[in-house]
Amino acid sequence: MAVNLDWGNLGFGYIKTPYRYVARYKDGKWSEGELTADDKIVLTECAGVLQYAQTAFEGLKAYTTKDGKIVTFRPDLNAERMEQSAARLEIPIFPKEKFLEAVDKVVAANREYVPPYGSGATLYIRPFIFGSSAVIGVKPAQEYEFRMFCTPVGPYFKGGIKPISIRVSDYDRAAPHGTGHIKAGLNYAMSLYAIVDAHEKGFDENMYLDAATRTYVEETGGANFIFVTKDGKVVTPKSDSILPSITRRSLCYVAENILGMTVEHRPVRFEEVKDFAECGLCGTAAVISPVGKIYDHGKEVCFPSGMTEMGPVTKKLYDTLTGIQMGRIPAPEGWIREIK
Ligand code: PLP
Ligand code: COI
Repeated sequence: MAVNLDWGNLGFGYIKTPYRYVARYKDGKWSEGELTADDKIVLTECAGVLQYAQTAFEGLKAYTTKDGKIVTFRPDLNAERMEQSAARLEIPIFPKEKFLEAVDKVVAANREYVPPYGSGATLYIRPFIFGSSAVIGVKPAQEYEFRMFCTPVGPYFKGGIKPISIRVSDYDRAAPHGTGHIKAGLNYAMSLYAIVDAHEKGFDENMYLDAATRTYVEETGGANFIFVTKDGKVVTPKSDSILPSITRRSLCYVAENILGMTVEHRPVRFEEVKDFAECGLCGTAAVISPVGKIYDHGKEVCFPSGMTEMGPVTKKLYDTLTGIQMGRIPAPEGWIREIK
């Protein structure tokens, strides 16, 4: 039985739940890993994470399905992406099988915090890994922690699935050959100034362009882009410096194999954005958030789908993806992992 929360009015915030998972790396190996009720972390003041931001994280969700099961969506891909993030940050790999076991344990231990079917809320799961031992010269730590907590959340953007307005950022998020393709904490630290500035100016998010030429669309601070052409094709930007979104990869599969649409994953020039019929942000937190308007230094791109509703193709993609996640539509093989 779920605890008594106002599920329909949850924002995207942190609510402490009873259990989290922790494993520690020392002397070249990971500890067994266990659940704990203690949400506090005690660290040396000189920990690698505190001094040189040696940390990466993940984000995935658990859902209550129509028939009352609790499931997670493609957690194997989060485990693999965390391996890639760890490798790039000189963090020891946390094994995929252990990652999946941790997801199962954390969700099961907090099952009364998984929002009920149809409530509009979900359980957001946050795995993270960081250097915990002291480093003062710039080098990787010797010891690490892998942790995972969960928190019930509502929509990432206020207003739920109402179209948002974003602006082209004057700040860059990720350099060519940098860390944009992994989920490093540092990518988010450097986006904070730009997001505060965007919010102050009345925008919901930043659209980042490629740092080298500022001609290609990259992504936002927390989601990939998905565009729809006037003749109904799905187009998603390809770049080595954006995060390979699991939601975007799943949506492209859904569009092509379930909805029979044409999908193009290719570099997208900002110039061509004005010609698209629909635009959305996709990610675990964002699900698909429709974009109604993009502000670019005094000019505006207004999508024909407008500022009141999701465009029809975005809606079809949204309904199919959330239908799969909530058990209304059969899932492709291996996409759903049931929590027993
Ligand atoms: N891009 C960035 C920068 C993100 O932080 C996220 C969120 O995880 C995404 C894209 C979407 O990725 P996913 O669909 O795997 O959640
Ligand atoms: C996610 O969608 O899981 C993310 O990590 C995005 C984050 C900005 C909340």
